[in-house]
Amino acid sequence: MIESQENTSSVISPKEFSKLREYLIASASQDSGATILTPEQHKHNIQGRLAEELSRRNINFPDSIRDRLILDILAEITGYGPLQPLLDDPEITEIMVNGPQKVYVEKQGRLERTNVVFDGNLHILKIIDRIVAPLGRHIDSDSPMVDARLPDGSRVNAVVPPCAVDGASLTIRKFSKEKLSIQQVIGLNTLTQGMADFLRACVLGRLNIIISGGTGSGKTTFLNVLSGFIPNDERIVTIEDAAELQLQQDHVVRLETKLANVEGHGMVSVRELVRNSLRMRPDRIIIGECRGGEALDMLQAMNTGHDGSLTTVHANSPRDAISRLETLVLMAGMDLPIKIVRQQISSAVDVIVQMSRLRDGTRKITAITEVAGMEGDVVVLSDIFKFNQSGVDAEGKIIGQVKPTGIRPLFGPRLEAAGFKLGAEIFGATAADILAARQRR
Ligand SMILES: Nc1ncnc2c1ncn2[C@@H]1O[C@H](COP(=O)(O)OP(=O)(O)OP(=O)(O)O)[C@@H](O)[C@H]1O
Ligand SMILES: [Mg+2]
Repeated sequence: MIESQENTSSVISPKEFSKLREYLIASASQDSGATILTPEQHKHNIQGRLAEELSRRNINFPDSIRDRLILDILAEITGYGPLQPLLDDPEITEIMVNGPQKVYVEKQGRLERTNVVFDGNLHILKIIDRIVAPLGRHIDSDSPMVDARLPDGSRVNAVVPPCAVDGASLTIRKFSKEKLSIQQVIGLNTLTQGMADFLRACVLGRLNIIISGGTGSGKTTFLNVLSGFIPNDERIVTIEDAAELQLQQDHVVRLETKLANVEGHGMVSVRELVRNSLRMRPDRIIIGECRGGEALDMLQAMNTGHDGSLTTVHANSPRDAISRLETLVLMAGMDLPIKIVRQQISSAVDVIVQMSRLRDGTRKITAITEVAGMEGDVVVLSDIFKFNQSGVDAEGKIIGQVKPTGIRPLFGPRLEAAGFKLGAEIFGATAADILAARQRR
C-alpha cells in the first residue's frame, strides 16, 4: 500500500490519490481482454496512463512514489496485491492475514505486525481466489476453507466468513528456496556438532527416527536436513501431503496425496501411498508427517525390514509423541489392544528428536531420546541429549544449553556394528574420564 498522505499531501489529497489508484487498477484490469498481457506490457501501459493523468491534473510525483504506485498496481493486476512485497521479502518466512486491517509476518523467528492493509474482506477474497482458482479450487461462504499452494511451493491456508469470525484469514508458510545444511542449523544453535554426529550415525545406521514438535517448530526443515545424511546409492520414497522436502540424492521418488474431485471421488491419502510405497522396493521411506491411520502402516513397515525410515509427528515432548502415535494407530480402526500398540511402537521407533520453537523465536532440538523398550505396559524412554534453560537475558533471548545426559543408548552396539564408533565425548564423558579409561586399558 502506498502511504499517500505523508508523501503527497502537498500536491494531492489522500482521497484523490486513492481515486487515481483505483482508476489505474480498473483500467489496467481491462487491458487484459482476449490476450493476456505480460507484466512488462502492463507496466508500460500503467506508466503511460499515470504520466497522462499527472500531466492532466498538473501534479508532479517524486520518482520514488511513482515507482511504488506502479509496483502496487502491478501487484494488484498480476500478483498477490498487498501481499506481494511480503512474498518478495526473503527475510519473511510466514505471512498471516487476520482480516483486512491486521497482517502479521514472521521474520527471524519473531512475529511482527506490518502496516500492510487490504481494502476490505472482498479484497482479501479476490487475492485468495487468485491463489486457488488456477488449482481448480474455490472458496466462498458455502465452502469457507481451502488449502492450496503458490506456484513456488509455499503452503497456503484460507478461511473466510462465516467460519472466520473477524474477516477472511490467510496463512502462508513461505517455501524456503534455500535448503538449510546441517552446518547452517548448527550455526543457528538448533543443535550441537556432537548431536549432529550422533544423528548422522543414527541415519547411516538405519535407525527409525521420529521428529516430534509443535506447529512451526521446524520439523519439516529438520527432516530435510536429516535426509541429507542418507547415502546417494539408496532408493528413497517420500510421501507428503504437499511436497515440501527437497532431497538432493539422485534416486528419489516423490509421492504426494491427492484431494477428491468435485464429485467427491479420487482422493488418495497418505495411508494409501504408504501401502503402495512398500511395493516400490524402497531402501528408505520418508513420510512428511504422520497425522492419521498411516501411523499403523508405517510402524508395520518399520518392523518388517523397512528400517531407516523417517517421519514427523505433532507433539510437545517425546512422551507426548508416543501417546500421539498411539492415538494415530487407533485411528487406523483395527481395534488393537493398547499394549500391542505400545509394543509395536517400542519395537519400531528407535529415536525421537524433539524440536521446539522457544519463546524468543529460535528453533531448538530440546531432546534426543531413545525408545528403550517396554517395562510392563509402559514404553521406556531415555534422554541421550536434553536442553536445560537457565534463564532469559535482557533482550528476551533464552539462555540454556543442550547437553548429553551421560546415558549411552542401548542401540550403541548396533551403530558400532554398522561401523560408527561414537567417541565418549559425544555422550558427555569429560576429557579426564576418557584419559582414565585409556589408562585402565
Ligand atoms: N533450525 C531452524 N532455525 C531457524 N528457523 C527455522 C529452523 N527450522 C525451521 N525454521 C523456520 O521455521 C518455520 C517453520 O519450519 P517448518 O516448516 O520446518 O516447521 P514444521 O514444524 O514442519 O511446521 P508445521 O507443523 O506447520 O508443518 C520456517 O519458516 C523455517 O524457515
Ligand atoms: Mg511441517
